[in-house]
Amino acid sequence: MNLTTKYLGIDFKNPLIAGASPLTGSLDKIKELEDAGVAGIVMHSLFEEQINHDLHSIDHFLFQGSDSFAESLSYFPDSDYIESSESEHYLEDIMEIKSSVGIPIIASLNGVSSGGWVKYAKKIQEAGADALELNITYIPTNPLLDARELEAMYIKVLADVRANTTLPLSVKMNPYFSNPAQMAKRFKDAGANGLVIFDNPVQVDIDLEELSPLQRANLTSSANLSETLRWCAILHSNVAISLAASTGVHNAKDVLKAIMSGADVTQMASTLLQNGTGYPKTLLKELVEWMQEKEYLSIEQMKGSISLNHCDNKAAYERANYMRALLSYRF
Ligand SMILES: Cc1cc2nc3c(=O)[nH]c(=O)nc-3n(C[C@H](O)[C@H](O)[C@H](O)COP(=O)(O)O)c2cc1C
Repeated sequence: MNLTTKYLGIDFKNPLIAGASPLTGSLDKIKELEDAGVAGIVMHSLFEEQINHDLHSIDHFLFQGSDSFAESLSYFPDSDYIESSESEHYLEDIMEIKSSVGIPIIASLNGVSSGGWVKYAKKIQEAGADALELNITYIPTNPLLDARELEAMYIKVLADVRANTTLPLSVKMNPYFSNPAQMAKRFKDAGANGLVIFDNPVQVDIDLEELSPLQRANLTSSANLSETLRWCAILHSNVAISLAASTGVHNAKDVLKAIMSGADVTQMASTLLQNGTGYPKTLLKELVEWMQEKEYLSIEQMKGSISLNHCDNKAAYERANYMRALLSYRF
């Protein structure tokens, strides 16, 4: 049984990647995930705000009270200060993980604006990451902000990061664009090698005791897989780019569905947080059993077999299925 698959131009021994979560922020957990068979990991994100905080602190050190050049030199932060910053820790983590495990390591940058933080892409490459995932999450609240302008901001951030690294680069997309397929193509044209379909937004709630808003990272279930499958199927047949199915991949059947819809790999966070770092072993066993039963020989053979590849008018097909599903409901 050949479980190998290529994503971002990198060979993975199977389609199971541990997505960004607190698990991938711990070397011990990463080692456990590798032992259980995952083919790669996406590190937890380094946020623009964490990097900028550091940069601003350094600026503050540099320019505070600096009337003359000679004087300003005495304010230069000592190396201890730089080494203790969050972003420097992130680079050290990459080096430590790379020297401790044998699977590909995808680092993750998370930001929304153009600025000095994008230079971290270069540092991440120098630290030894195999690839970089860029998460651009921006919730617009200004009704006067034009959608085209907002989309251009996404493309600019990607282009700026691209300019700072030659690493394979993926964009973790959200499903909220008017036309995600067009954005996918624009990301590709701006230098992305792959797309992660999709990020899962933090859950919004209201605390009725404290009378305050609540935002928390919520765990998903297989019920959240639908949009992932829909858009992997649409993008697989429309945009020539690597695809990682993320959000709602919880069990071996979800992995199979994601691959059939056109994903090259799957990323899992919630199911690993719920079922533990040993769970990939079970997933791989069930994956192989199903493939043997259905006489599939490889992941490649299965990839995109149920996408929209063979459909001439994809939009009409989607619309027809939508109508059929609503009209066929029986009570
Ligand atoms: C507790 C927690 C922390 C997360 N941290 C990150 C992160 O640092 N960067 C990121 O891009 N996604 C992060 N995510 C999102 C996951 O990587 C993933 O996209 C999302 O949970 C959907 O996948 P799932 O259905 O497998 O959980 C986090 C998710 C959870 C639950």
